[in-house]
Amino acid sequence: EQIEKGGYEHFMLKEIFEQPKSIHDTMRGRLLVEEGVIKMAGIWDHVERFKNANRIIIIACGTSWHAGLIGEYLIEEYARIPVEVEYASEFRYRNPIITDKDVVIAISQSGETADTMAALKLAKEKGAFIYGICNVVDSSIARITDAGSYTHAGPEIGVASTKAFTAQLTILTLIAFKLGKHNGNLGNADFMSLIAELDAIPKRVEEVLSSTHEQIQQIAKDFVSTSNFLYLGRGYNYPAALEGALKLKEISYIHAEGYPAAEMKHGPIALIDENMPIVIIAPKKGHYDKIVSNVQEIKARKGKIIAVVNKGDRQVSEMADYVIEIPETSECFSPIVASVPLQLLAYYIAVYRGANVDQPRNLAKSVTVE
Ligand code: G6P
Repeated sequence: EQIEKGGYEHFMLKEIFEQPKSIHDTMRGRLLVEEGVIKMAGIWDHVERFKNANRIIIIACGTSWHAGLIGEYLIEEYARIPVEVEYASEFRYRNPIITDKDVVIAISQSGETADTMAALKLAKEKGAFIYGICNVVDSSIARITDAGSYTHAGPEIGVASTKAFTAQLTILTLIAFKLGKHNGNLGNADFMSLIAELDAIPKRVEEVLSSTHEQIQQIAKDFVSTSNFLYLGRGYNYPAALEGALKLKEISYIHAEGYPAAEMKHGPIALIDENMPIVIIAPKKGHYDKIVSNVQEIKARKGKIIAVVNKGDRQVSEMADYVIEIPETSECFSPIVASVPLQLLAYYIAVYRGANVDQPRNLAKSVTVE
């Protein structure tokens, strides 16, 4: 097992550090920047089905559901196809309206999650075109779907999903750009500059890992005895906040909630005092001014601010207690880059609390029962 961990203390840390490679592997053979094309047979062979879809419904559980939420932002922004995202467990039992004009995408690392599988079967019965985004090759979901794209992130052993999540985001980005280019909603110049930026995302992730790793170990020490955390973000980074909170609760057993930053005033603000740490994702592109005012509201209530900002940021950084810098990207890529320090933060807090990081209590890597 020590050999499999490749010198890392836990699989989770190894998998966090594998992300530059796993994201690259997800794009390999698909993203051809020189030629200016995205090759995805699963999409291309059925492109009319996507083009003529009334809507895309994304179903998933856990971390994969968070990826789905970001998928909604991506596909609606770039391909202008309406998207709904649902927990598979809710979808399957609520008698949903599904027609043969719908495309249902299931996202699942394991490809074995019982609720996701059952929701897909239901969608198939109703005539929808069903598509899978799975990591495990030849898994049950991969086999039942009409078509799909593997994430190719490599085996993920840590129960808390890390590299599978960023690989899912990569696939969803490729799908959104491919469909947008095909249906004319994403012009050629924008397409070309976005794919060039996507191609360099593994490098950006590499930079974040090396520039934040030591700093986050220091930050984590200050929160070993904390019992609550809030995670806030807007736009694309709202689901990234949900995922950051999920990582922390899964492995450290600290209660953590993710919220869209603007919803703070409808509840969570009541919880803010000097004992409440708040992780706020505040990149320059993505409603920055609005985030600044959210941070002011937190500051006025003496909340402890851990800000994830772009290099050279001033306004949010001046108010924050801890500043974690990530490189600036187009907004649609920021959840990938911002998730990395949040994974590290959850990891180190859990390690310092003596938790079993790779196998947290009560959780399973793949939930094959209801
Ligand atoms: C479990 C795992 C999570 C995962 C979720 C969905 O809860 O512990 O890490 O996100 O299942 O799994 P899937 O394999 O369908 O992505």
